Amino acid sequence: MPQAANYDVLILGSGAAGLSLALRLPPNCRVALVSKGPLQEGSTLYAQGGVSAVLDKTDSLQSHVEDTLSAGAGLCDPQTVRYVVEQGPEAIRWLIAQGVKFTRDHEANDASVYHLTREGGHSHRRVVHAGDATGREIETTLEKLARARPNITLLEQHIAVDLITASKLGLPEPRCYGAYLLDRRTQHVRTVGARHVALATGGANKAYLYTTNPDGSSGDGIAMAWRAGCRVVNMEFMQFHPTCLFHPAAKSFLISEAVRGEGGKLLLPDGTPFMHKFDKRAELAPRDIVARAIDHEMKRLGSDHVLLDISHRPQAFIQEHFPTIYARCLEYGYDMAKGPIPVVPAAHYTCGGVLTDLHARTDLPGLYAIGEVACTGLHGANRMASNSLLECIVFGAAAATDIGAGHAAGEPPRKLPKWDESRVTDSDEEVVVSHNWNELRHCMWDYVGIVRTDKRLKRALSRTELLLHEIEEYYGNFRITSDLIELRNLEQVARLIILSAMARKESRGLHYTLDYPEPDNTRTPQNTVLVPPNFAAAKQPVNWKC
Ligand code: FAD
Ligand code: SIN
Repeated sequence: MPQAANYDVLILGSGAAGLSLALRLPPNCRVALVSKGPLQEGSTLYAQGGVSAVLDKTDSLQSHVEDTLSAGAGLCDPQTVRYVVEQGPEAIRWLIAQGVKFTRDHEANDASVYHLTREGGHSHRRVVHAGDATGREIETTLEKLARARPNITLLEQHIAVDLITASKLGLPEPRCYGAYLLDRRTQHVRTVGARHVALATGGANKAYLYTTNPDGSSGDGIAMAWRAGCRVVNMEFMQFHPTCLFHPAAKSFLISEAVRGEGGKLLLPDGTPFMHKFDKRAELAPRDIVARAIDHEMKRLGSDHVLLDISHRPQAFIQEHFPTIYARCLEYGYDMAKGPIPVVPAAHYTCGGVLTDLHARTDLPGLYAIGEVACTGLHGANRMASNSLLECIVFGAAAATDIGAGHAAGEPPRKLPKWDESRVTDSDEEVVVSHNWNELRHCMWDYVGIVRTDKRLKRALSRTELLLHEIEEYYGNFRITSDLIELRNLEQVARLIILSAMARKESRGLHYTLDYPEPDNTRTPQNTVLVPPNFAAAKQPVNWKC
């Protein structure tokens, strides 16, 4: 059995958030960087549009702040928004200094000027990108650096099962001391202790049947933090991206919002434009509005898709700006330069998450959360396009600074208990896992999707209650596997989404319910804060009002 290992910092997740933190930490800091699959795999690798930041002389920080607040529909924390926006230019400079190659503006006289694209909700061109594969460029560049750092131990194919907390060890002062990691190759659970632990595990979009996200987005970090006693906020705000390629083999392949930013038009199947009927910004309205408009038109017409058309742009322009998307569509028989392509919405981004402050601290001393797993107050009720990668980089830096300054450092006990497998056996019915996984994702898509009602939410809650009992029983009796870990987490996070949606008696941002179709303007907008039963009253108070 492998021995317990101790590190200064244990980072769970190696996307933009985890890698930024790892690389910003001082070189004398002993870091373990964990990914449940290959290091590259995660949403970051698939990001297309880019990273938003104020880089153009005609743009302003104030405008970026205002656009973010407006998309967030009254629920952003203004202090967080200003902080992230102000850090934006530095974050881009840092990425460039690491070797990230963003696309230059060939039309500018100055060769050092980067091309900026436009996306929904942004009133200026402010999205810096690497063609239409920005995430790949960022992820692979940072990955290469992390692999070369002697102070970083890479633990690929290790899935975190649970956090090791003081309360589990019977110690009085709340604190996180490490995590149990299942080595997927050997099936052994390793005990890893650390002075600081950071969750950078991404979102929970796999809770839905159709999603733009890769397989790992099963909300593991949110579920682990919840079980460890951290508050979770605004989980009803699940973002549906308006445009994924509609093709049975395409697995919800994303068609970047930048396609609309560069003039792409949404059309009904008969070729009629419709977005102008829903918002004066038409195709460039924030995502919630566009996704809901598409959903409305599809339901009204009984259609299984709408169309996206950028064929009025020259072929050379399309191929230069969207090489990946163009090639992928061609594989499925659609030439974007010659005609419209069929698109549908799919679950894309988890706006809510583990409550954190401007230092990325959670409620539990020693535990940080960064990237999509966290709820910093930046996105409010609806994330604006390309603000997510920015948030990952900015909060990766914030956590590194806090850890570097020695905040809440604490030595884990010399002997951490090993994972107890004495009472479990190998499963004899793997089908329970795959069946429940499918049932859960169907249920969330049908009852907790783009348009909700009280009745649908109630139905979803009672279905997930049944699943909860079955999964917990299975978890208690059989040896854990990565599928079982993910299913259990997904089930817990699905319930947090449903409970949050049930608590919001209004429509706001991404949460739309036919029972309360308008925002409640009779009182100040409220965040939905879920408090776990084992919450140890804020030892470490977060600094935004929720
Ligand atoms: P991820 O990149 O998802 O990484 C999660 C990491 O956590 C992985 O390494 C995974 O292995 C690890 N992990 C998870 N659970 C465990 C566990 N239990 N144990 C160990 N490791 C674990 N945002 C933008 O700002 N601009 C864009 O253009 C953009 N385009 C997008 C396009 C697509 C198709 C998608 C899916 C998202 C896009 N987004 C975009 C959103 C953005 O990419 C994500 O929000 C962001 O990349 C999340 O980064 P992260 O580091 O938080 O998580
Ligand atoms: C896209 O390219 O449309 C995705 C951008 C984002 O999710 O921020």
